[in-house]
This record gives sequence, C-alpha cells and structure tokens, in this order.
Amino acid sequence: MQINKLEDISAEHINKVVKMVVLISDINIKTARNGKKYADIIIQDNTKMMEAKYWDYEENQDIFQDLNENKIVEIEAIVGEYNGQLQITIRKIEKVSDNHSIKDFIPTSDWDVEVLEKGLKYYYNKIESAHMRELIDKMIFTEDFYKDFFVYPAARKVHHNYYHGLIQHTLEVLKFAYTVATTKRLTQRQIDRLIVMTMLHDWGKILEYKALPQVGTTDEGIMLGHIFMGSHHTLNNINEIEGFPQEDKLVILNGILGHHGFLEFGSPVLPKTVEAQILHQADKMSGDVESILSFIKEDSNDGESFTGKLWNMGTEYYKK
Ligand SMILES: [Fe+2]
Ligand SMILES: [Fe+2]
Repeated sequence: MQINKLEDISAEHINKVVKMVVLISDINIKTARNGKKYADIIIQDNTKMMEAKYWDYEENQDIFQDLNENKIVEIEAIVGEYNGQLQITIRKIEKVSDNHSIKDFIPTSDWDVEVLEKGLKYYYNKIESAHMRELIDKMIFTEDFYKDFFVYPAARKVHHNYYHGLIQHTLEVLKFAYTVATTKRLTQRQIDRLIVMTMLHDWGKILEYKALPQVGTTDEGIMLGHIFMGSHHTLNNINEIEGFPQEDKLVILNGILGHHGFLEFGSPVLPKTVEAQILHQADKMSGDVESILSFIKEDSNDGESFTGKLWNMGTEYYKK
C-alpha cells in the first residue's frame, strides 16, 4: 500500500505493508541482545517524524554507505505497535532517482517568511549603539550568512527542527526577552546588549548543522558545538570593530556562552549578568513550550488522555 505522507499512517495500517518516500534524518547502529547489529532510524517528511527499525543492517550495510548526502529514500515497511506508539519496521530501502524537493521532507515554520524578516528588523531597530548594530550587520545582515540564518532549523530534534526554525526561535526569544527587559525597566545599554546576545545566541548552529538538504551535524559541529563557534565568530567580528567597548564585549560573549544556563547543559560559564539570565530563561521558554506543542501534535494515540513521556520535560501531557 502506497502512503503519501507519514501523518496518514494510523492504527488501521497495523500489520500491513506500506511503501513511502521519506527522508532519513538520523541513523543509530545498535546491537541487539543476540549480538546482531541493527539500525535505529528516524524517518521524516514535512508532516511528521517517526522512529523505525531496520533489523537487516548487517547484511545490507552498503545501502547506508551509498546514501551519503542525499538521504531521500523509498522504503517498504510493516507498521506495528510498541508501548502504544506506532512503530515502523523497515524491510527494504531503495534510493530514489527523481528529483524531490527537500521542502517536501522538512517541516517548514508556519510563520510567514515576511513576518520573520520584519520581526528581526523590528528588534534590530531597537538597538541604539552603533558598534552593536555593526556587529549584527557583520554576522546577520550580510550576504555570507543572511540566507543560512533564515533557512536553518534550530535543532535536529525536540524543538524548532524545521525550515526557518532558527529564525523563528530567535524571534520568539527576542520577544520574550524584550518583554522582560521593558517590564523590569532595564537601561538602554542593557537592552542593546540583550538584543545582540539573543540574536547571536544560536548563530553557531549555521555551522553546527549541515546545509540542507543534508541532515546531521558537521565535523566542526561535533568537535566544537554551537556555543563555542558562535562565541568564537562573535569575538572575531568584535575585534574588527574599532572602539568596541571591552565591557560590552564581555557581556555579549558571556550571554552566548552562558545561554544553556548550567554547566551540565553545555554552557562553559554561568550567566553573569541580568541580561544573560533573561536570555537563558527566554531561550528555555521558547524551546520547552515548542517541544510540548509539537509532541502533543505528533502523538498518534488518539484514544488516550495523555501523551507518552516527553523525555526533555520528564512527564506526559494531558491532551483534552
Ligand atoms: Fe543553544
Ligand atoms: Fe536557543
């Protein structure tokens, strides 16, 4: 049975063989209890992301070597159920030859691109100091990075993992952070610093993730991560701006380095200013809320009141 979109798969397909074209977004090779290697695969299209198992990995490893950059494939699979969730067991994987648009396989932000652009400009115009504007000009409003900044996803899983995800996430964090800053009456200098560190906090993701249509993490992303790369590029650009005040430099860099909030979540230093703490909490708010909303949306178990457990939040969610 041919399936058009992953969201169309439902309980009525259980124990049936289905065929569909999907993007493989992640492959993890694991060893089963009997010592045999198998592949844990994440498949997706622009409607949904699903887990799938491929038990015949050992016999067919060459298929995976063959996939390289282009991971759009046709699969034949059996739909099953495990712990109340639909599960896909792949029987056959084949490369597809005709040209598919990557947009059919990557969910796109439901915010209008124009709205996203206008929003970014709106907060840019709130920056009053010339040297901080210049930093944003060099890192975002420049031919080298503008396009990437607009199309990249903000994550591979969990939150904002879609086309335009990075800019949508950045804009959300700007909105939350700016509301706190004006409610608590921060000074203009603090507001300038907060806007700049917020715009740049996840900038390193355009180097951490591979350029679409590829999926996955770059070598430098794995080795260095977005927190270091974002801070590193920010420092290099600041050093090119004449007369950039040392205090602003330290505050902005600390904001980027500290935005995960805790050492155990990957930040090498804690947020050391009120601006950095606001950024961290606004960032967490944007990511957490998005992950809950998309988890509920993707939940396939219509008969239940609760979703399964959302691992990053440590609990299940009520759906009614
Ligand atoms: Fe981050
Ligand atoms: Fe973020």
